[in-house]
Amino acid sequence: MSSLKTSGLHIHNLHVAYQNGQLVLGGMNLELPEHGIYTVIGPSGSGKSTLLRAIAGLLPGYGGELLFNGRPVHDRDTLIGLVPQNYGLLPWKTVRDNLRIAMNIARPGRGSRHRQEQDRQITQWLASMGIAELAGRYPLSLSGGQQQRVAIARAFAIRPTILLLDEPFSALDAITREGLQQMFIRNWQAHPVTALFVTHDVEEAILLGQKIIVLPAGQQEPPELVDNAGVFGMKHEDKRESQEYFEQSKRIRKVMMEKW
Ligand SMILES: Nc1ncnc2c1ncn2[C@@H]1O[C@H](COP(=O)(O)OP(=O)(O)O)[C@@H](O)[C@H]1O
Ligand SMILES: [Mg+2]
Repeated sequence: MSSLKTSGLHIHNLHVAYQNGQLVLGGMNLELPEHGIYTVIGPSGSGKSTLLRAIAGLLPGYGGELLFNGRPVHDRDTLIGLVPQNYGLLPWKTVRDNLRIAMNIARPGRGSRHRQEQDRQITQWLASMGIAELAGRYPLSLSGGQQQRVAIARAFAIRPTILLLDEPFSALDAITREGLQQMFIRNWQAHPVTALFVTHDVEEAILLGQKIIVLPAGQQEPPELVDNAGVFGMKHEDKRESQEYFEQSKRIRKVMMEKW
């Protein structure tokens, strides 16, 4: 019980092994401040999804401590939003109902007078991702990029305590991805939820994180934390062309060469 008073997400000595006994995470430590956003990058199989699953409470067991503001993350009042790579939308529900259902599950027991206000909020969240006009459509009638916008709008709409994103844009083409990165970070700036954003894309890691957590290929080694405040503080449109971005890219690639 090292630092119970730490605010934000506190990961202490996290161990995860799957049933076959293979150790996937071997004692990870990490501090993510409240309202902070860190990106996580690591080679395939390094345990990125496992880390998010542990935090989301989707693993049957793990060792170590997961605390948010000093309390176990799996307490009832910690609401965790997870955006997977494959959107995770309910195909038989409209876009609007996908948001509504998630909001009702997150905060149950609101009366019908609440409905109008909720509809207004749903429209706003969809508009923030540029898809207000798709509210009545069904997910499978949408492109991958549009479905992922719905998934991001839904993740913000439930106003989670912690937002976890597992390579949310990796199935999208480069141009679509750039548009979504920009919309995502604008939404985060307006509503800075504590977030961990997993990616296997160095560029995305530098564009979206205040710090970049580089997971090693070997489970016994600690992750390397790279400060990214210089790039993070810039206007999003200017990041890619900047000298800081270029330097950071070199720095991260060097760490990858050493660790992967
Ligand atoms: N449900 C599972 N059962 C057994 N092994 C798993 C399971 N999920 C993942 N693994 C293994 O754990 C390791 C880490 O997987 P994962 O967290 O998905 O990595 P990443 O997301 O970084 O690619 C891999 O070796 C993978 O094969
Ligand atoms: Mg994964």
